[in-house]
Amino acid sequence: MSVPTQHKAAILPEKGGNLQVQLRPTPTPGANEVLIGVKSISLNLVDGYQRSVGMPPVSSYPAVLGSDIAGTVLAVGANVNTFKVGARVAAFASSFYITENGTNYGAFQECVLVPAVAVAPIPDAVSFTTASALPMIAFVAATGFAVLDVELALSAAGDVKSGKKGVLVWGAGSGVGFGAVQLAKALGFAVYATAGPKHHAGLAAVGVDRTFDYGSDTVVDDIVAAAQQDGAVVELGFLAAGSYAAGSLDKCIAILAALKQRDQPSRLAVAPPMFEYPQGTGVDATFIMVHDTDKRNNAFRFAFHEWLGPSLAAETFKPFKTRVVGNGLDAIQTALEEVTAASGEKIVVDL
Ligand SMILES: NC(=O)c1ccc[n+]([C@@H]2O[C@H](COP(=O)([O-])OP(=O)(O)OC[C@H]3O[C@@H](n4cnc5c(N)ncnc54)[C@H](OP(=O)(O)O)[C@@H]3O)[C@@H](O)[C@H]2O)c1
Repeated sequence: MSVPTQHKAAILPEKGGNLQVQLRPTPTPGANEVLIGVKSISLNLVDGYQRSVGMPPVSSYPAVLGSDIAGTVLAVGANVNTFKVGARVAAFASSFYITENGTNYGAFQECVLVPAVAVAPIPDAVSFTTASALPMIAFVAATGFAVLDVELALSAAGDVKSGKKGVLVWGAGSGVGFGAVQLAKALGFAVYATAGPKHHAGLAAVGVDRTFDYGSDTVVDDIVAAAQQDGAVVELGFLAAGSYAAGSLDKCIAILAALKQRDQPSRLAVAPPMFEYPQGTGVDATFIMVHDTDKRNNAFRFAFHEWLGPSLAAETFKPFKTRVVGNGLDAIQTALEEVTAASGEKIVVDL
């Protein structure tokens, strides 16, 4: 498998500009990096937001945006022995945490550099299209539980069988929520989830213990009653609803506050951007982002090397639905506009 000297990238020339497909030099991986030939790119709401308003911050322009890809390994750095050239992989190919040469790392290009810690092998049975939708889901799920100070270790914890240790996952119809419920089960929690009714059968199929319609007027009381009836201790929550899910934060806090059994605050990990931090509720709400590099790398290592890769191989991870809206880098600009309409699926552009 030969490495090209240059490749095409969808380059953002300036904040709010339109993507332009151009040739750029293909980089060589550093010691702990992998160069991936991209086959599929999955889009996230944040991609369109970052294109139009430059948030999360773009270190410099021109820039290459995007995070979620699947493809084949073209080259590996000197310290990388987990992947071989030609391996099929999915990766969190983002420049979010990169401070130098950021254009080598964004997903919207044919060849991309990724730290090996953020790369997972994918089995032949999982298509590149399907696999491309999983890295952000896996990473945010793992980071969310890291923010809650849950030990990231897969176990058949005894508490599951006895049904005592529970977690609330609000918005399990989203990609992040679907990942969070699967990780919660793998970490040993009984899961109390909310999602629109069309997702309930699929959530039961991945082991969610009880699912509630977030649109019900009695959803808060129903979840509290169910957890009490089960004798579950629900001190942790994961808010994964779409960014404009008004009222979700308050409802999560109300549920956790009603189920609180100890003096110390219950904990809520919040995936959507947080504009308010309610005080005096007995529940600490924290935005899902890990600033500490070691802790973040531990979440990457767990998400990709211990959880996503092995569970895809064992067919214990159920992928999220995808919808291909175009082919080639030229399709990304228009596809970014489709992301807002996604429910229960991720938008993908195949190369
Ligand atoms: N912190 C981070 O690093 C990070 C990274 C990525 C994403 N995020 C955030 O994570 C969230 C999920 O992102 P995503 O891309 O997976 O999905 P998304 O497309 O942003 O979310 C759409 C889903 O939200 C659900 N939803 C909408 N209103 C809801 C409500 N009131 N209660 C419960 N669920 C509701 C819908 O579920 P139904 O289909 O059931 O109606 C829909 O499927 C977003 O808020 C995103 O901004 C954070």
